[in-house]
Amino acid sequence: MRIVSVVGARPQFVKLAPIVHACAAAGIDHKIIHTGQHYDPMLSDVFFRDLGIPAPDVNLGIGSGTPGVQTGGIMEKLDDAFPSLEPDCILVYGDTNSTLAAAVCAVKLHYPLVHLEAGLRSFNRQMPEEHNRVLTDHAADLLLAPTQVAADHLKNEGLADRTVIVGDVMTDVVYQVKQTLDGVTSPIVREGIAAAGNYSLATIHRAENTDDPDRLRSIVFSLSQVDHPVVLLVHPRFRAKCSEFGIDPHQGNIVVHDPLAYPDLISSAMAARGIITDSGGLQKEAFLLRVPTTTIRPETEWVETVECGWNQLVEPGEGLIEAVSRPRPMDTDAQPYGDGHAAVRAVETIAARLS
Ligand code: UD1
Repeated sequence: MRIVSVVGARPQFVKLAPIVHACAAAGIDHKIIHTGQHYDPMLSDVFFRDLGIPAPDVNLGIGSGTPGVQTGGIMEKLDDAFPSLEPDCILVYGDTNSTLAAAVCAVKLHYPLVHLEAGLRSFNRQMPEEHNRVLTDHAADLLLAPTQVAADHLKNEGLADRTVIVGDVMTDVVYQVKQTLDGVTSPIVREGIAAAGNYSLATIHRAENTDDPDRLRSIVFSLSQVDHPVVLLVHPRFRAKCSEFGIDPHQGNIVVHDPLAYPDLISSAMAARGIITDSGGLQKEAFLLRVPTTTIRPETEWVETVECGWNQLVEPGEGLIEAVSRPRPMDTDAQPYGDGHAAVRAVETIAARLS
């Protein structure tokens, strides 16, 4: 059987890696379509290089744009790209515009559709990711859920028959990369930017946090007031919005830094005293590495990180500043995101259900 994966944005390359390896181990033919949603080398190429992913079979080169332009542009190009690869099924990941575009196109062309990381919900209808994941789940033939909570959401929406819990493929990647980092120092520490255990590592990129100038200004000011260094890894969207609104992120205790390659991100998270983020993936990676996390959002899809005491949701302002310096929580051996073998189960499930 031939699985065709469609990816386009940074977190999807991370999730793709263990699927590629699991397909190879199972002798399943696998092809990759890169939509080109992310195109900067630090958001794209380095992930293929560091995680051992072969070059995409097709790159649609779509680039940035409004949701309609980006999603519609990808769909138009997939109309030709899908048949050219003769897929037995289409595999889509997570909740980006690339996910939704590929889902709609697969359904229209009558290819069985599999959604990996199905069932995540924020119940915030303002989030572009929430539209993308709800619509993709309802279009898909097979829903691979990472957790029981995700499977429960799918059941509540009448999708239980199509759902299988396989665990979280990001756990597979984090455990594998962590193993390779024995004795490796984070570049943040190596370059003398901050001392191990003494800094928070921050990433901000969501539209809800970056598109409103008052909220973005307030987030930057709050980070600047934290009582220890905050190493802020700057996503292009954050950089572009700061520049558009005349906000200088070089303030107070903020140390601005370019995005990191994946192994460097993991080693820098492990060396940090805490994580400050609005990324879904990083909330989970931090939990798996047992690094306390402060999330600048009113809600999270990854509720287990909060329930286990390792993640706190905050608004910009005093609440954020205090949360970042809170004591480390009680250790836990909870494993809500699986055992690191989710990709093998995902591939086995696809083969069993769709071949
Ligand atoms: C996208 C996903 C988000 C995911 C994030 C991971 C959607 C709706 N959002 O958000 O769910 O968490 O990726 O990073 O699909 N840009 C560059 N270079 C690039 C890519 C983007 O400079 O390689 C800039 C452009 O100014 C672009 C902006 O970043 O307009 C936003 O990029 P886009 O892909 O639309 O969304 P993200 O914010 O990256």
